[in-house]
Amino acid sequence: MGPLMPTVSAAGTTIRYDSRGTRGPVLVLVHGSGGNAAVWHPQIDALADIARVFALDLPGHGGSDGSFATIDDAVAVVRGFVDALGLGNVVIGGHSMGGAIAQGFVLAAPHRTAGVALIGTGARLRVLPKIIQTLEQDHPAGVQFLIELAVAASAPEPLKRAVLEETMRAPARSLIADFRACDRFDVMARLGEIRAPTLVVTGVEDRLTPRKYAEYLAKHIAGAQLALVPGAGHYVQLERPDDVSSALRAFVLERVRG
Ligand code: COA
Repeated sequence: MGPLMPTVSAAGTTIRYDSRGTRGPVLVLVHGSGGNAAVWHPQIDALADIARVFALDLPGHGGSDGSFATIDDAVAVVRGFVDALGLGNVVIGGHSMGGAIAQGFVLAAPHRTAGVALIGTGARLRVLPKIIQTLEQDHPAGVQFLIELAVAASAPEPLKRAVLEETMRAPARSLIADFRACDRFDVMARLGEIRAPTLVVTGVEDRLTPRKYAEYLAKHIAGAQLALVPGAGHYVQLERPDDVSSALRAFVLERVRG
């Protein structure tokens, strides 16, 4: 990660992204609230031999310019990103708010979607008012409160600190806008429209997008596969990176390629 990551102009915004892999299906990974491409570091490494993996920084995050106010706006940016790089049909994967964007992507562009991976997310993402209020009043205290909820109580201290530090890098206005966008997101009634192969992954100890949300996704998306990861909270892909990478790997090899 760093200044050497490439950029591309998409939907009028400069988007920075990370990418690895030269063959296989295209996997586009979208981070969640206050995140950036770095939240996918383990999966980028683990999947580069079977897929062309792209992880972008959403507008106003990491090294990308601009901003967005709704999940649909972010979907337009991701579609612009896919078009600008000429990626064709993609497996769209997302964590948390990124999972909302992935659902928006498949609903808006089913013909461009070879598969969907929904990680630590839900079809409706109402946000605890205390998260937004605390972030507005005292940004560091708000991030601290958020991260306490976002990783399992049993997660090692260095991991908690790393997630906290990475989230502190996101401008307060971007983080607050992310949560406002999540709070208005609701596709619970539309999941039956999704026909693409779908994988749902959630940490059993997730307190921000609880297991119930994952079970709802898996029940209402035809043929969806559900992987519940023990010992992990909301940042399941960083807390149990190997479990998430293996689930994605099997999904790409068996459901997308196969
Ligand atoms: N999948 C399945 N069920 C869902 C759901 C989802 N994505 N989102 C909400 N529901 C269910 C709830 O469990 C609840 O069911 P119940 O009435 O049987 O208890 C019902 O739909 C209504 O829930 P919700 O829309 O969330 O409103 P609420 O007023 O009950 O609760 C919050 C509001 C903020 C307290 C609650 O959404 C919450 O605890 N959210 C998780 C914490 C958070 O802030 N996460 C951040 C996500 S980015």
